[in-house]
Amino acid sequence: MKTAVYPGSFDPITNGHLDVIIRAANIFDKLVVAVLNNSSKHPVFSVEERVELIRESVPKIPGCEITVTSFDGLLADFAQEIGATTVVKGLRAMSDFEYEFQQALANRKMNHRLDTVFLMTSDKYMYLSSSLVREIGRHGGDISDFVPLRIQKRVLEKLSK
Ligand code: PNS
Repeated sequence: MKTAVYPGSFDPITNGHLDVIIRAANIFDKLVVAVLNNSSKHPVFSVEERVELIRESVPKIPGCEITVTSFDGLLADFAQEIGATTVVKGLRAMSDFEYEFQQALANRKMNHRLDTVFLMTSDKYMYLSSSLVREIGRHGGDISDFVPLRIQKRVLEKLSK
């Protein structure tokens, strides 16, 4: 059983995240999507809302058990707790690389069994981010190409408040 963890803020989940989840699910037996309970970042969506929105968005993928949960503290410790030996990250552009490289090395320093695997974003999601969705949604713009269909209404309602 190969377990991977896909961590993030997911404030909110985007179609880019969903693309990474689906592709990772085709590689690993078990995928834990882990939402960081990052109170210091003042997320728009509560951790419970973010977990719920991801659960509603993720389809069943034969051959992979996908679970969605939240975590506090260090990813390296959380991965050990759940028996994950791989971290999955999406890479959009070279600008993501330096930060991700640093995180991957730090995580492996803290947990020697933990490797990070990067999935290149699908080209149509290269520019997409949760902050872009928040910005567009807050001003009443069209987010229909950016977030999973099943959660669009809820995301828009929250952002326009
Ligand atoms: O979606 P994000 O905000 O880019 O995700 C960042 C995340 C949650 C993956 C990263 O901040 C993280 O792993 N935070 C937990 C604390 C930690 O372990 N930091 C890395 C080593 S310093």
